[in-house]
Amino acid sequence: MAKRPKILVTQRVPDVAYPPLEAIGEVEANMEEGVIWPYEELLRRGPGHDYIFCLLTDQIDARFLEACASATPRLKMVANMAVGYNNIDVEAATRLGIAVSNTPGVLSDTTADLAFGLLIAVARRIPEAERFVRAGKFKGWGPLLFCGTDVHHATLGLIGAGRIGKIVAKRASGFEMRVLYYDVYRLPPEEEAAYHLTYAPLDELLRASDFVSIHTPYLPSTHHLIGERELSLMKPTAYLINTSRGPVVDEKALVRALQTKQIAGAGLDVYEHEPAIEPELLTMENVVLLPHIASASYATRNQMALMASNNIVAYHEGRRPPNLVNPEVLG
Ligand code: DGY
Repeated sequence: MAKRPKILVTQRVPDVAYPPLEAIGEVEANMEEGVIWPYEELLRRGPGHDYIFCLLTDQIDARFLEACASATPRLKMVANMAVGYNNIDVEAATRLGIAVSNTPGVLSDTTADLAFGLLIAVARRIPEAERFVRAGKFKGWGPLLFCGTDVHHATLGLIGAGRIGKIVAKRASGFEMRVLYYDVYRLPPEEEAAYHLTYAPLDELLRASDFVSIHTPYLPSTHHLIGERELSLMKPTAYLINTSRGPVVDEKALVRALQTKQIAGAGLDVYEHEPAIEPELLTMENVVLLPHIASASYATRNQMALMASNNIVAYHEGRRPPNLVNPEVLG
């Protein structure tokens, strides 16, 4: 009888993830909700598994992968329960013949919903107004009370028009917004027409938009894509929304732009040195801060968890895992 593979699940994940893995192998799992193993612990526990189910907060670097590749059993695959995989050194994994998978598609709508929610929240000052009510300060309707910025008919600039960016554009069409996009890949004309998108070079988009929403993956080429120069191009009435990855924005430059009123506000779900946040941001009323929850609906997190498990099961059964990010390792 074939030996059952050893599978490590690094964090407590939705329940649906476990049965498919338990059906094929011996599962070792961190079941403590909210507990992320420090890197050294991950390095101690990882080697000796065939498959690792991991999360975006696990640092799967070359040192870790090399340790797992030289152990017995040798690591075959890392299944990340996230669409972004900048926590994994994919180049090192490929060099070592280790497959890497992610969870694209299933979280696009949910993430787009939250990006749009953040946009409305910061523009219409919803969290600030809610804090006011809870503090017992609401004494009656006022003509100047919490006036904000209109979302409808405004110009939205999308940086990145992949799966999530395009869905944000669909949400924006309900608000009759004009939607510009910048991407390194220009969409075919029929897609631009279908999503009512107008292409603009980045600087032009920054100058013209009332809201700039970021939807790029984090790559060396997108590190600090939005820095001091880019923020200085934005309108003083404009807002920056980031639900992609923190280091796409130079967070210190953002603080300066907010302090000097170069831009009107920001809605952030992700941070440059997550979970650390530039302390000044915590004191600003015109900034809405969320704890990286863009894909956090029960249905979506279940789908992501199941998808990550199914990638492992497929590899184990000799099928091509559907969401490989380095398909070249399987030839
Ligand atoms: C991802 O999947 O990359 C998100 O950041 C978390 O869902």
